Amino acid sequence: MQSVEMLGVCILFLFLSLITISSTLDTKNPTQHIIRDGKNGNGTLVSRQGTFEAGFFTPQSSNKRYLGIWYKIISPRTVVWVANKETALEDHSGVLELDGDEGILSIKDGKGAKVWSTNASLAQPKKPVVVQLLESGNLVVKDGLNNLVWQSFDYPGDTLLPGMKIGRDLKTGQNRALRSSISLTDPTPGKFSLGVDTRGLAQLVIRNEDSKNIVYRPGSWNGLSIVGIPEEITDQFTKSLFVMNEQEVFYEIQLLNSSTLLRSRLLPEGYQVRLIWSDKNKNWEMEKPGSFDFCETYALCGANSICNVNGTTEHYCECLREFKANSVNSGCARTSPLSCIKGDTFQKYEGMKLPDTSSSWYDETISLQVCEKLCLRNCSCAAYAQMNISGKGSGCLHWFFDIVDMRKLSKGGQDFYLRMATFTPSELQDHSFDRKKLKGLVVGCTIFIIAITVLGLLFCFWRKKIKQSVISCVVESNSWRNNSNKDGIDLPIFDFISISNATNHFSDSNKLGQGGFGPVYKGIFPDGQEIAVKRLSKTSGQGLDEFKTEVSLIAKLQHRNLVKLLGCCIREDEKLLIYEFMPNRSLDYFIFAPTRCTLLRWSKRFEIIKGIARGLLYLHQDSRLKIIHRDLKTSNILLDSNMNPKISDFGMARTFGLDQDEANTNRVMGTYGYMPPEYAVHGSFSVKSDVFSFGVIVLEIISGRKNRGFCDPCHHLNLLGHAWTLWIEKRPMKLVDESVDDQVEPSEILRYIHIGLICVQQKPEDRPNMSSVALMLNGEKLLPEPSQPGFYTGKDNSTTRYSSRNCEEYSLNEMSNSLDVR
Ligand SMILES: *[C@@H]1O[C@H](CO)[C@@H](O)[C@H](O)[C@H]1NC(C)=O
Ligand SMILES: *[C@@H]1O[C@H](CO)[C@@H](O)[C@H](O)[C@H]1NC(C)=O
Ligand SMILES: *[C@@H]1O[C@H](CO)[C@@H](O)[C@H](O)[C@H]1NC(C)=O
Ligand SMILES: *[C@@H]1O[C@H](CO)[C@@H](O)[C@H](O)[C@H]1NC(C)=O
Ligand SMILES: *[C@@H]1O[C@H](CO)[C@@H](O)[C@H](O)[C@H]1NC(C)=O
Ligand SMILES: *[C@@H]1O[C@H](CO)[C@@H](O)[C@H](O)[C@H]1NC(C)=O
Repeated sequence: MQSVEMLGVCILFLFLSLITISSTLDTKNPTQHIIRDGKNGNGTLVSRQGTFEAGFFTPQSSNKRYLGIWYKIISPRTVVWVANKETALEDHSGVLELDGDEGILSIKDGKGAKVWSTNASLAQPKKPVVVQLLESGNLVVKDGLNNLVWQSFDYPGDTLLPGMKIGRDLKTGQNRALRSSISLTDPTPGKFSLGVDTRGLAQLVIRNEDSKNIVYRPGSWNGLSIVGIPEEITDQFTKSLFVMNEQEVFYEIQLLNSSTLLRSRLLPEGYQVRLIWSDKNKNWEMEKPGSFDFCETYALCGANSICNVNGTTEHYCECLREFKANSVNSGCARTSPLSCIKGDTFQKYEGMKLPDTSSSWYDETISLQVCEKLCLRNCSCAAYAQMNISGKGSGCLHWFFDIVDMRKLSKGGQDFYLRMATFTPSELQDHSFDRKKLKGLVVGCTIFIIAITVLGLLFCFWRKKIKQSVISCVVESNSWRNNSNKDGIDLPIFDFISISNATNHFSDSNKLGQGGFGPVYKGIFPDGQEIAVKRLSKTSGQGLDEFKTEVSLIAKLQHRNLVKLLGCCIREDEKLLIYEFMPNRSLDYFIFAPTRCTLLRWSKRFEIIKGIARGLLYLHQDSRLKIIHRDLKTSNILLDSNMNPKISDFGMARTFGLDQDEANTNRVMGTYGYMPPEYAVHGSFSVKSDVFSFGVIVLEIISGRKNRGFCDPCHHLNLLGHAWTLWIEKRPMKLVDESVDDQVEPSEILRYIHIGLICVQQKPEDRPNMSSVALMLNGEKLLPEPSQPGFYTGKDNSTTRYSSRNCEEYSLNEMSNSLDVR
């Protein structure tokens, strides 16, 4: 009996295990719904310690749904990765599914159609797979053996997170690069990428993906940092890594303290910025790695030149030694050929950002001495430098033919050795020269005489060429006139020669200043008419036709508080804008200067404020074009002979094709101290951005102090914060510029301070529009109670951290070529 029972149990056991076995063989791993959108959905996926969260979201000012990853622990929501960038869902019916067999993640819409999916790469099917959101913000699919099947870090969007690799897998060919979005709120891929260029010595580059051209080059790795970002060496938040081996080449940043929240973002305009979360201020503090100035534009100066922002020449370009400006393209060419014998010498340049290494040769092992010898041995070697400056230094880098995109750095930088013909001018200065040198001198003189002759000949040709180009300018202008008249567009065209003569050939003594788009010169026509000529930087890649259309539209804007555009001139790659001349310079010249400021009495100051408001109102709504100035500041308010204010540089963003052209995206808009928070931080701008700048100007005019240079010893407040503090402490009159001593009704001044504060409100919607402002200025509208202004602390949260934060520094860099953060 017992044995029968035993048998029964055994059979049952066998049967059961058979069922189990067959079920493992037959049933598929089910498809799991990881995240379901909508009311009845099961929310989001959260990383173990709760730093990141993945789920469906709708970006600001949109009604589309995307699957993304964001920081769970901070608000407002900061998205760092988006799956269905190009295939947004229209409603809340999306589901993120995991195919348990293949390991494929996919997003399906309400009808079950697939809108996005990962690629199948599960080596052994039928292993259970899992989806996890890691603490680093990486969404991963793993098989049952914990092998990685897929990870979001392999498909970066516009955000680089610590631990994410940018570069190339040399085995699979996979290229990981950041890709900008078309706007800060629309994740659709935009036109810029940040990746590793593996030609020559690998380097980081930002490219315009439409043209494939490099627009900015952080550069190669020198053992300590990326050459264009020497600040990485002393960075307090991250450590940078650049790995080059047989399998892969990549760049990565790692956090020094894992509790820091830090990300790097490629903005829609192609700039890379770094953002660090400030727990104290509850916002992202932004900084721009590397220098940020004109010289950052890739190859701005052409071949064989150095870009130096402190240089004396126009466009900051200097030819390398033994090179001369080349009229054909903007670069420089060698004046005397290399002798290509052992006698060549090298000129050392210090503190350089090394040039483009995409066609360089390198060797990680050889020393600098051997590097020099090898360079001498190869006739096409034009320069060399140390490859790895870590420790005692090692490795060798050679450049051949042209040197491109080299600049002087203000901090850090490296030695660069340029090859030169033996016969250098410095040897001429040597008093103890011997026969050999004398012989050299004779040869030199001969070359000199020949060169003079050749130059003379060239000069003749040149004059002839200018004559021709005058003709072409006139012809072109005529044809333009003919075209334009059809559309009712008519704009005076000036010929280049008369402008050149009027400005004394753009001489430095005629230079009135340097704006964000190029230098401005004073000119006088033979009949005595005075003009101001803005010479637009040559790098504008905007098409001629668009430029003409824009300029003629802008020229149609006529208002007594706008500087009048008289016409333009276009010659080859030169674009000049001709304005009426303003004898009294700009507002900042008066209100911030100790004695000059007394010239502007209260009545005049009020008139000036009203004039600026009228000009701005016209730009915003009364003109045919709705124009947002975007760089309104006291130095852009010019004063005529009666001290009437006239807004200048309006429409420049349009004229310069800022929104259309890659070269210009390295150009700059906005000036710290006048930028509203939503523009500086989120890049959104509207007419209300100009209202903010206007408010800053009003407070500056009343107080006679700069918002940006303002330093309050007691608090860390800027002018806005100071004005606000005085306002809530009910002693606003303390803000007033005491050097203006004429009698005025205090209530009148109070009204201006009040209007200033209303205009600088944190939220754009809390700021009035210019038509309300105009009414308020005339006392025809009740003033709402202001609340705390935007950017009211002195530590303007978008300043490069690397610059020391003292008042001096703030007031120095007033030019609008600061960071463009649209
Ligand atoms: C979400 O809900 C679905 C069914 O509604 C379920 O199959 C799935 O396991 C859930 N996912 C999670 C992560 O809870
Ligand atoms: C899938 O693979 C193709 C080709 O390898 C690649 O272009 C694509 O980006 C991949 N997509 C995803 C979402 O992994
Ligand atoms: C640079 O040199 C340092 C010190 O000699 C060495 O530790 C490092 O690995 C080198 N780096 C590279 C990229 O060759
Ligand atoms: C990391 O940062 C956190 C918060 O800022 C701080 O409390 C902690 O002490 C830091 N850890 C280290 C190792 O510095
Ligand atoms: C000089 O260097 C170039 C680039 O590496 C190389 O192609 C060429 O063969 C070298 N010439 C000599 C003579 O070594
Ligand atoms: C330019 O000059 C300023 C002020 O003298 C200095 O701080 C900065 O380092 C210089 N920059 C370069 C690239 O030489």
